[in-house]
Amino acid sequence: MEVHIAFAFLLLVSCFATASYAHNVSLSTLNQSLIVSTSTTAGQVLRAGVDQITITWAYNTNLTATASDTNYTTVEAKLCYAPVSQTGQDDRKTDDNNLDLDKTCPFVITDGPYQRSDNSFVWTIPKDTPNATYFVRVYTLDADDDQIGYGQSTNGPKTSNLFLIDGTVSDQKGSAWSLFGNSFGYRYVWLLTLFLV
Ligand SMILES: *[C@@H]1O[C@H](CO)[C@@H](O)[C@H](O)[C@H]1NC(C)=O
Ligand SMILES: *[C@@H]1O[C@H](CO)[C@@H](O)[C@H](O)[C@H]1NC(C)=O
Ligand SMILES: *[C@@H]1O[C@H](CO)[C@@H](O)[C@H](O)[C@H]1NC(C)=O
Ligand SMILES: *[C@@H]1O[C@H](CO)[C@@H](O)[C@H](O)[C@H]1NC(C)=O
Ligand SMILES: *[C@@H]1O[C@H](CO)[C@@H](O)[C@H](O)[C@H]1NC(C)=O
Repeated sequence: MEVHIAFAFLLLVSCFATASYAHNVSLSTLNQSLIVSTSTTAGQVLRAGVDQITITWAYNTNLTATASDTNYTTVEAKLCYAPVSQTGQDDRKTDDNNLDLDKTCPFVITDGPYQRSDNSFVWTIPKDTPNATYFVRVYTLDADDDQIGYGQSTNGPKTSNLFLIDGTVSDQKGSAWSLFGNSFGYRYVWLLTLFLV
């Protein structure tokens, strides 16, 4: 019981710590300092729940003088909607002025400690990934979990090197992704865990 109370307290504290923190980071203030690529070919169609994508990323060491990576602590790789799959869909809307509100990249592929080079991740596309056109973006975060740098597998206008995911097999609106795939989702998980305790 005491363990439960201590655990509940910890969860409560972390809830407030997460919920009260306003990042308000704008994409244009970040250094585009990572080189990101995917194993996909432009326009390739991959099947959700079946196919894999290898994502590789590295710090662009040409930038050591102009955009140092000294404060990079962790990375977060995300699957992002291309503009062609965003039109008319408010729940996928881009907000480059405040990444907390940005819905371009709702799916976390992986996260972990930052390292300059030799980063590669083989991702099996989850079954419930929506049918859409995508690219991959990798953010670098500082010790406060604020985004401070990034790179993406496409060009600035997000039109090159795009790939498609065919989620027909299990395409469902309101699937688990929409709840767990973004930072708000994590907060709900905390709350839910707290509730269960
Ligand atoms: C976010 O930052 C911008 C620019 O610094 C500022 O104008 C805006 O008021 C901030 N918004 C919030 C919700 O803090
Ligand atoms: C870094 O600079 C070298 C020399 O100018 C260039 O050949 C190389 O393509 C650059 N790398 C990147 C990732 O821009
Ligand atoms: C981008 O790099 C410059 C030079 O190192 C640095 O002054 C600036 O703080 C960096 N921006 C971010 C958001 O880390
Ligand atoms: C690293 O973070 C410190 C403290 O926030 C800041 O003063 C410094 O400018 C940052 N360095 C870079 C290269 O962004
Ligand atoms: C999903 O994408 C596949 C391949 O592009 C297409 O054949 C299928 O009709 C799409 N399904 C829906 C529901 O849009």
